[in-house]
Amino acid sequence: MSKAGIISPCRSIKDKLGRIVSLRPYGEEDFNGLFEMYDEFQPKRKAMGLPPAQDGNRHKWITQIVEEWFNIVAIQEDRIVGHAALDRPVGANAREFMIFIHQDYQNKGIGQALTFSMLDAAKVMDCKKVWVVVENMNRIAITVFKKAGFNFVGEPDVERVMLFKP
Ligand SMILES: CC(C)(COP(=O)(O)OP(=O)(O)OC[C@H]1O[C@@H](n2cnc3c(N)ncnc32)[C@H](O)[C@@H]1OP(=O)(O)O)[C@@H](O)C(=O)NCCC(=O)NCCS
Repeated sequence: MSKAGIISPCRSIKDKLGRIVSLRPYGEEDFNGLFEMYDEFQPKRKAMGLPPAQDGNRHKWITQIVEEWFNIVAIQEDRIVGHAALDRPVGANAREFMIFIHQDYQNKGIGQALTFSMLDAAKVMDCKKVWVVVENMNRIAITVFKKAGFNFVGEPDVERVMLFKP
């Protein structure tokens, strides 16, 4: 989805190591950098089987996400170190959320900042619900999503849906 001037979640944060990280909507110029981030990302298939391990499948997945979803990237010294995306609206403007932070940058506060930026964008887009699927063992993701205002729906299971209502 084009950034089309709908929102401007542009901001800079300092991560927990004091590094300046910029957050902004994805642009075409970020395509190669995003490929690089996911090519380097380890372990592959970390969250719900993503990012895909096989190069062709991974590249197809990234291409589809940047073409069809609304995307925000986190950049440190010209390198993409994080990526969050919001799917096209389904039904009454409910959208799926996903987020990946490069393993060298995880647990430094970037995921929380990126999640907050995306939820701000969702509000501007008049989104009624944002949902994310997370594995029960992914405690760090659950911490981040709860801090951002997501709540579990449904019974406890290996995979859980978490919902945010702007
Ligand atoms: C999940 C993910 C997006 C979180 O982003 P991040 O930048 O690593 O997380 P942050 O540093 O912003 O925040 C992590 C929080 O979890 C806490 N945390 C870390 N390890 C934890 C654990 N094992 N259990 C519970 N909380 C934990 C941290 O203390 C921190 O909270 P605090 O700021 O209150 O101290 C990132 O780790 C990631 O990309 N993981 C792999 C992909 C993934 O799982 N994506 C989510 C599914 S779509």
